[in-house]
Amino acid sequence: MNNTISAGKHLINISAEAGSRLVSLPGEFAFKPGKILLLTDENTYVYCAPVFKSYFPLPVTDIIIPAGEKKKNIDSCMLIWKSLLSNTADRNSLLINLGGGMLTDIGGFTASTFMRGIKFINIPTSLLGMVDASAGGKTGIDIDEYKNMIGLFAFPEAVIVEPVFLRTLPQNEWKNGVAEMIKHSLISGSETWKHFLFFLQQNGGEEISGRGREFLLQRMQESINVKASIVAKDPFEKLERKFLNFGHTIGHAIESWSLKNEEVPLSHGEAIAIGMIAELYISSKLFSWEHQELKIFSSAIKNFFPPYTIEEDRYNGIIELMKHDKKASESKITMSLLKAVGNPVIQVVDDVQLMKDALSFYNSI
Ligand SMILES: NC(=O)c1ccc[n+]([C@@H]2O[C@H](COP(=O)([O-])OP(=O)(O)OC[C@H]3O[C@@H](n4cnc5c(N)ncnc54)[C@H](O)[C@@H]3O)[C@@H](O)[C@H]2O)c1
Repeated sequence: MNNTISAGKHLINISAEAGSRLVSLPGEFAFKPGKILLLTDENTYVYCAPVFKSYFPLPVTDIIIPAGEKKKNIDSCMLIWKSLLSNTADRNSLLINLGGGMLTDIGGFTASTFMRGIKFINIPTSLLGMVDASAGGKTGIDIDEYKNMIGLFAFPEAVIVEPVFLRTLPQNEWKNGVAEMIKHSLISGSETWKHFLFFLQQNGGEEISGRGREFLLQRMQESINVKASIVAKDPFEKLERKFLNFGHTIGHAIESWSLKNEEVPLSHGEAIAIGMIAELYISSKLFSWEHQELKIFSSAIKNFFPPYTIEEDRYNGIIELMKHDKKASESKITMSLLKAVGNPVIQVVDDVQLMKDALSFYNSI
């Protein structure tokens, strides 16, 4: 049986049986689309488009873009917009975004700006996309190394979560999804976090086993619920939705630094994991956490992801990048922190030494 969750301005449908929702989808369109275009990146075109087409009963026209965060840029947008034009897409066309978070972010952005907006559906194929990126209507692209600088809130007609696509997801991409699941469990409550802490400790440094994947699939719905319920309350990020940025002020700055300077940059999930550890440290200092608790949580997260060191001579550059974060106001760095597990708060952080100590803490554990 399929399961439908409301994220306020759109629904998220989780298929229980491979392909079932894709087969029934056309009958459920609230409008009659003209042309249907399928946007994939070069990997999801190979691994996911054939699965999609084997279930989806209507003809689609393919648009394929290069994969990876470095391609979440205006050049890829041009490629999509020109393909829409050359395929005579019009306001009655539908764009189906089939891919990870990079693909649904750029697909939603290009659809909602083409001819002042055409309808789109997100079908996430990565764990990160399923539990987080595909829902909630944040769309956008990067400028150079600056993350998600151009974009708009634009809501998909629907989000369809088909776990069948995870069959081809590479091992390291599973870990990226876990980063956002950790975030959801830390901001939502202690019971969920206890399960995750145990999972991280059991799977630290290892490839995620079959049992580990089963655990993640069982927890997926709960993670989607956290995102959906917050987004439903505050779709335009006036208040509660900011809590979902836990780990992201420092995480995005580190990701930006890495995108600009490293040949093989950190993935979004890896950067957010580092950001969460640093922001846990800042939370512990501002809200008097027990050091032992901070250490247990942080070590479990750090050991789960590939090893990484933030050289001290990068600290100033990373802090400078935080001022460009979209959450910053008048260059004041703002973070979503945790008074305790399940008790998030929004806080201006202006103590540069505290931020440097947080980066050193990450290196030290
Ligand atoms: N809009 C939001 O609310 C939101 C929230 C969180 C993250 N994000 C964004 O999401 C992006 C990260 O998402 P991601 O980790 O999914 O990145 P991604 O889309 O780049 O996917 C990661 C890699 O996995 C490949 N892939 C995806 N699904 C596959 C499958 N089933 N089989 C084989 N290969 C597959 C992709 O081609 C890519 O190479 C970042 O750009 C981040 O900013 C957006």
